[in-house]
Amino acid sequence: MTKIKVENLKFSYNNKDEAIQNLSFEIQEGDWVCIVGHNGSGKSTLAKLLIGLLKADAGTIVIDGLEMNEKTVQEIRKKVGIVFQNPDNQFVGVTVKHDIAFGLENQCVSQPDMIKLVDEYVNIVGMKDYLNKEPHQLSGGQKQRVAIAGALAMNQDIMIFDEATSMLDPEGVRDITDFIVKLNKDFKKTIITITHDLEFAKKADQMIVLNKGKVALTGTPDDVFSHKNILEETDLNIPFGMRVFDRASKDELLQKDEALVKALWAYSLTK
Ligand SMILES: Nc1ncnc2c1ncn2[C@@H]1O[C@H](COP(=O)(O)OP(=O)(O)OP(=O)(O)O)[C@@H](O)[C@H]1O
Ligand SMILES: [Mg+2]
Repeated sequence: MTKIKVENLKFSYNNKDEAIQNLSFEIQEGDWVCIVGHNGSGKSTLAKLLIGLLKADAGTIVIDGLEMNEKTVQEIRKKVGIVFQNPDNQFVGVTVKHDIAFGLENQCVSQPDMIKLVDEYVNIVGMKDYLNKEPHQLSGGQKQRVAIAGALAMNQDIMIFDEATSMLDPEGVRDITDFIVKLNKDFKKTIITITHDLEFAKKADQMIVLNKGKVALTGTPDDVFSHKNILEETDLNIPFGMRVFDRASKDELLQKDEALVKALWAYSLTK
């Protein structure tokens, strides 16, 4: 079932340069979609359009059959959660505890349930010792962890993670990534992750490659990575395995060893 349908979407911050130029794509229910693209390619703008924080200049966004407009935006926000790229923009509570509980209060969750949920998610992001800290007492990565906990606790159907682990240490990235996979596979949530990291994007079901506000490529990671020439035009770092494959497939001696070239291609796509 189609969960998100975007058609001919256009958006400009200043009425002249289009940050989003005629975008169209579909996301199926339960899919994990990774949006990749260079700095300024429009990824965060698209995320803000998808939650109705920005209003499109043209085109439509339909989520769960609801077309985004002033009347439906509140209903749509109940379905779509987001972790922003900059955690400072997301911190709304006086303390970590209040921040995670904020969205739950808006959802009218009862006090005992709220305490339980805050407890559960603060543990998942490894911040249980910081419950009473204020935002200025936290590092960037710690704020990012709190933002992730707050968004996860809301238990929405669709989750958007905009570079949500960019400030985390390697262990933090692994824990949160594992949890995102679990949300998708076990809890059947539709997930959108935004990153520049093609290595990470290989793990998703589908990819959308943005280049200067346009869709350069869409499809499964296998499809997308088979268009290496288009990918190269997008200023993204081609994964190491793929570069090795590329070198090998240009080497006359290695070319003769079809099995080796095939093995390298398979390796470059391993998740
Ligand atoms: N608030 C704003 N006002 C004006 N222009 C903006 C604003 N936010 C973004 N832009 C411009 O819109 C374009 C798309 O920006 P966006 O933040 O969506 O890119 P991005 O793909 O998320 O980049 P990054 O990888 O750096 O996060 C850029 O050219 C950017 O300069
Ligand atoms: Mg961004």
